Amino acid sequence: MSQHFLGFGLGLRTDHFHDVLEQKPDLDWFEVISENFMVDGGKPKYYLHSIREHYPMVMHGVSMSLGSTDPLDMDYLKRLKQLHDELQPEWFSDHLCWTGLEGVNAHDLLPMPYTEEAISHCVERIQRIQDYMGRQMLIENVSSYISYAESGMTEWEFLREVTDRADCHILFDVNNIYVSARNHDFDPLDYIKGTNAERVRQFHLAGHTDYGDYVIDTHDHDIPDPVWKLYKEALLHFGPVSTMIERDDNIPSLEALMAELDIARRIAADTLTEDQLTPRYKDAV
Ligand SMILES: [Fe+2]
Repeated sequence: MSQHFLGFGLGLRTDHFHDVLEQKPDLDWFEVISENFMVDGGKPKYYLHSIREHYPMVMHGVSMSLGSTDPLDMDYLKRLKQLHDELQPEWFSDHLCWTGLEGVNAHDLLPMPYTEEAISHCVERIQRIQDYMGRQMLIENVSSYISYAESGMTEWEFLREVTDRADCHILFDVNNIYVSARNHDFDPLDYIKGTNAERVRQFHLAGHTDYGDYVIDTHDHDIPDPVWKLYKEALLHFGPVSTMIERDDNIPSLEALMAELDIARRIAADTLTEDQLTPRYKDAV
């Protein structure tokens, strides 16, 4: 049984700050985007700490660029650690990707080449980040639209090797796997079956934009049926995993997102036992 199951949560977004404090919605936890709060004071910080008093939180970063060949940004890590110390989240995460080179930010989460060299590179950097932060981290699979001729293994083999060797955990983004499976023509079930289940600590669920020949990970739609189906498969394979919805554009009301989170709860209740679905917060990672 998982000792790390936080239950069902949402990504905390500015649009909902007021409503969350006012309504105290019936959800188990929030994920916050670290970079939005790596500042001194201000209104967002006020809301963050006020909401933290009522809910467990996890921190999710988007700009660690852990796969880049640029040196690790120690100033960024210092500010991340400060926020971590303030918030005392259940865990922190970032993406298995690179976001820039030679100081130029691509403003995109770019996939890695799936090579031995890239595995060693990422493992060494994750270990240094974990040493600095004093705890294990979660790394998330990104959606992708390109691949590299150099890649000598599948994405899930790459993810397995990196996480096993670095001894970190996985933030398994179900929508990203659906998007990448469509774009690269692989079976998403192979991805699920090829992932080291004992390392999966969190799920992301989101919507996307389907252009027919390709799919873009836009986070601006409701979660579509194929992603819900994949979520059920992921639950069957991984068991109870902390689940949340990411919505970053065309953001609906808090009530609408809570209704969408209820769908996740129903699918999990149909797939897992009641005991498996009891949240466990203590020593989450
Ligand atoms: Fe995600």
